[in-house]
Amino acid sequence: MSSPVTFVRNQWYVAAYGREVTTEVLGRTVCGEAIALFRTASGTVAALADRCVHRRFPLSAAPSHVVGDTVVCGYHGFTYDGTGTCVAVPGQSRVPRTARVASYPVVEQDSFVWVFVGDPALADATRIPRAPWLADEGWTTVSGMEPLAARWGLLVDNLLDLSHETYLHGGYIGTPEVAETPITTEVDEEARIVRVSRHMADAACPPFYANSTGMTGRITRWQDIEYFPPCLYTLHSRVAPVGVLPPAEGPDDGAFHVEVVYAITPSTETSTYDFWAVARDFAQDDEEVSRFLHDSNRTVVLQDVTALDLLETVVAAEPAGTQELSINIDTGALAARRMIAAMTASTTTATTAAADAATGAATQAATSAAVR
Ligand code: FES
Ligand SMILES: [Fe+2]
Repeated sequence: MSSPVTFVRNQWYVAAYGREVTTEVLGRTVCGEAIALFRTASGTVAALADRCVHRRFPLSAAPSHVVGDTVVCGYHGFTYDGTGTCVAVPGQSRVPRTARVASYPVVEQDSFVWVFVGDPALADATRIPRAPWLADEGWTTVSGMEPLAARWGLLVDNLLDLSHETYLHGGYIGTPEVAETPITTEVDEEARIVRVSRHMADAACPPFYANSTGMTGRITRWQDIEYFPPCLYTLHSRVAPVGVLPPAEGPDDGAFHVEVVYAITPSTETSTYDFWAVARDFAQDDEEVSRFLHDSNRTVVLQDVTALDLLETVVAAEPAGTQELSINIDTGALAARRMIAAMTASTTTATTAAADAATGAATQAATSAAVR
C-alpha cells in the first residue's frame, strides 16, 4: 500500500485561531497528539495532553470544564492547572505526586495559537514563522479553517503549485495566464524557506480581484510565495491595472496588496487542518468586500478540499513506490518535499540520538547501581 505518512516533530504548528480558544475547552489533534486547549481566567492559553491521568477521559469533552485557571475533568473531577499539574483530586486532600498531564509550549502570535510538538526543551519561539498582517490594524483580514480528509503533504503540493488555479479555480482566482506563465523557484536552505514566483505582466483579472478592487481591464499580477516548511505558507499577491507595476520586477507601490496565508497543520496521518487567511490593504472598512473575499476564498479552499480528499483515496490505495511524473510547474513542490524530507530525517536522527542517550544513561545507571 502507499508510503507511510510522516510528521516533522520538534516544530511549531498552528492549533487554532486565538478567537477559538475560550473558557470552553477545545480539542485538536496535532501530529497525532490529542491536545486540549483552553483560556484561563488570566487570559493565557493552556495546551494540555487531552487525556486525564486518572481514567483517560478527554479534558476537551463535556462535561470537562474550565474553572478559573484550571480545567476540571468531566469524569471524576481531577483538576489541572495550565502547566498540567494536578491540583485537586476527589475524596482525599493529598494529590499524588505523579498526577500530571503533559503540557505543550504555546505562543499566541499573528492571530494564531501556536503549539510546539516534540521535545519542549527545544521550543524556541523565535523560530515561529511570521504572518504579521493578520493581526495588524493596517490590514483587514478574513479567515477560516477547513478540515481535510487528506495527508498534509497533498496540501503542500497543492499550495506550492498555483498553476492548478487555472483548472480547479476557474471563475474565482484562475485565469489562463496562471498556468501559462513560468515560475522561478529559489531555496534558502539556511533560513529554511522555499520561494516560488510567477509574475504575469498582462493577464485577465479574475473575479476574486475584479470584485474586491473594482478593476475591470487587464492587470499585472504577481504571485510571490514564501513557504516555511512544514507549517506556514504565505503568498504575497500584487495586482494592478497594466502599466502601474513594472512588467516583471521592481517597486510595487500603486498595486493592491493581498497577503494570503495558509497554516498547514497535520492532524492524523490522513487528516489535516487547513487554516486560511486573506489580508488586504484596500477597501479596508468595506464589509461587502470582506464578505465577498471570505466567501470566495472559502469556496476556493473547499474546491481544494474536494480535490485533495479524492486524491487521498487514490494515494491510499496505490502500491508503495507508485511513480508520479513531474514537470516544470512542480519545481516549488519538489523543493518543499526535499526540505521536509531533510527536516524529518534530522528530527528522527535527533530523536534516535536522544533515545540512545537515554538508553545509555539508563544502562550506566543500572551498571553503577549493580556495582554499588
Ligand atoms: S478520568 Fe478524569 S477524573 Fe477520572
Ligand atoms: Fe487551490
